Amino acid sequence: CGIVGVTGVGDALPYLLQGLQKLEYRGYDSAGVYLTDASGKNALIKEKGRVAKLAEKAKANGFAGTAGIAHTRWATHGNVTVENAHPQKSSDDRFFLVHNGVIENYQELTETYLQRVHLVSETDTEVAVQLVDKFSKEGMATADAFRKMISLLDGNSAYGFLLVDHEDPETLYVAKKKSPLLVGVSDHGNAVTSDAAAMIDLTKDFIELRDGDMAIVKPSSVTIYDAAGEQVNREPFTLEIDPEDTDKGAYPYYMLKEIDEQAVVARNIAGHYYDEDGNLQGIPCAVTDAIEEADRLYIVAAGTSYHAGLVGKRYFEQWAKIPTEVHIASEFAYDQPMLSEKPFFIFLSQSGETADSREVLDNVKKQGFPALTLANVMNSTLTREADFALPVLAGPEIAVASTKAYTAQVLVQAILAAALGNPGFDLKAELAKVAVEIQAITDEKETFKKIAEDALVGQHSAFYIGRGLDAAVALEAALKLKEISYIQTEGFAAGELKHGTISLIEDKTPVFALLTQSKTAGLLRGEVAQVAARGANTIVFASENLAKEGDAFVLPQVNELLMPLLAVIPAQLIAYYATLARGLDVDRPRNLAKSVTVQ
Ligand code: G6P
Repeated sequence: CGIVGVTGVGDALPYLLQGLQKLEYRGYDSAGVYLTDASGKNALIKEKGRVAKLAEKAKANGFAGTAGIAHTRWATHGNVTVENAHPQKSSDDRFFLVHNGVIENYQELTETYLQRVHLVSETDTEVAVQLVDKFSKEGMATADAFRKMISLLDGNSAYGFLLVDHEDPETLYVAKKKSPLLVGVSDHGNAVTSDAAAMIDLTKDFIELRDGDMAIVKPSSVTIYDAAGEQVNREPFTLEIDPEDTDKGAYPYYMLKEIDEQAVVARNIAGHYYDEDGNLQGIPCAVTDAIEEADRLYIVAAGTSYHAGLVGKRYFEQWAKIPTEVHIASEFAYDQPMLSEKPFFIFLSQSGETADSREVLDNVKKQGFPALTLANVMNSTLTREADFALPVLAGPEIAVASTKAYTAQVLVQAILAAALGNPGFDLKAELAKVAVEIQAITDEKETFKKIAEDALVGQHSAFYIGRGLDAAVALEAALKLKEISYIQTEGFAAGELKHGTISLIEDKTPVFALLTQSKTAGLLRGEVAQVAARGANTIVFASENLAKEGDAFVLPQVNELLMPLLAVIPAQLIAYYATLARGLDVDRPRNLAKSVTVQ
């Protein structure tokens, strides 16, 4: 979910709506805004679905407040309904609250404190705002009632709260734990936001709140208290971001823009991590020293980042000679495997905010193990809380389906592994070639559009298969296709098909085969023949050295270990065009959020 709030900014609504648009990547099941002015005149507007629908309703309402809070929701507790959308309010319309996170003990709190209160939503957030109201009615000042409500939350609860009291309308009460929240400061009003990029139209100066902080934000002042309740001074930082980077320009969808940006991203990454003489730079010795101390690497990530880790493992093992395991964060968090004596953790994350990964980082820090985060969003929770952080440098990624962040994560892992060992070839020169060839593949859009339309229109399931590194890419390729087109797609280690899954192959079932690894090319050809014999429509993407007549597309040849960087591109474009052909919203697939800040 995403949160924004402003106070003392003149007309608050445009800031809040623009902020919500930029936060939609955090969820878009429903959205809501509460507006007020110094006299206490106010309006609460909520809508199911996208921010654009809320914007229409809010503009039609016509009320222009000078302060307000707003929220875009990714449903956790309670279905997607207007009642469950935020802001939630207290029964007598005095307090209004938006919340990001999950209150684990909300049912117990309801039973203990709110038996006589009629709750209109199914949300944990309403429980929080009704508690504030209850304590306020018992005579507490608003800040104390807010603090008391927070003190009752289960220790595991994660929250970012933004509260308005109708009796003191231009004051925002803010609290955060394990959920990102920043205060934007300017001489023409102040703001609160879960992502600084959402408020850059108001200011570039932000104060980062820490876990346990509470803040009181007024039109011309910000007061912060730490977890112990002591008033503290936290210095703002200036966000370096070009608003144009978050604009999709002439592209119909961000996803296509981001696919196209991958060649440039590859060049930028090489430019950042290599100097002109081809020497590595930008990786502090402290990082390489700490990794060299370790006897095993544990890569922890979620979703597409996990898939990038499966590729990176190969570089760390083959070039740096360090045994490497790759783990799904949500599993590792609660079922930690037996660790080696000297583990070193690498967190891979586009957003740097994924709650599942944060939970693992928390756990490993408590156990005293060193950790490095590779993230696209620097200054994020995972980069701040790990011992070390390196940028992934993909630039802002807006489409929910991750493309350039995957490529960038694979690239940065390769470079880090090269800094720790020896690839046995000139990685910098090869990466320059990779960038050229990514460009060449993205220039073939019409080819992939045709493949997608021919193979996938009317299909309800599909497969991607491969062996070795191609099996890792098959997982990512399948995720891309299914998450946006809703065609059920499985990514499979090709040799495993015959052990069960092959029974799903029917007449014309599309089976995409990735064939870039020479060691297993013969076996994979056999597997393609096996599914073809059972009626599958086989579509082979083979690298130049391994291609045969009849293959659907020949991937330019680069070093085999870097082929994942090329093999993934057709899959991204096929997912894009299959989704377009189905008339779906490419950038905003149903039920998903780009950054999942709840566990
Ligand atoms: C969400 C997104 C995925 C992403 C995953 C991990 O589920 O929809 O695209 O791969 O989170 O996110 P992270 O920001 O940690 O890479």
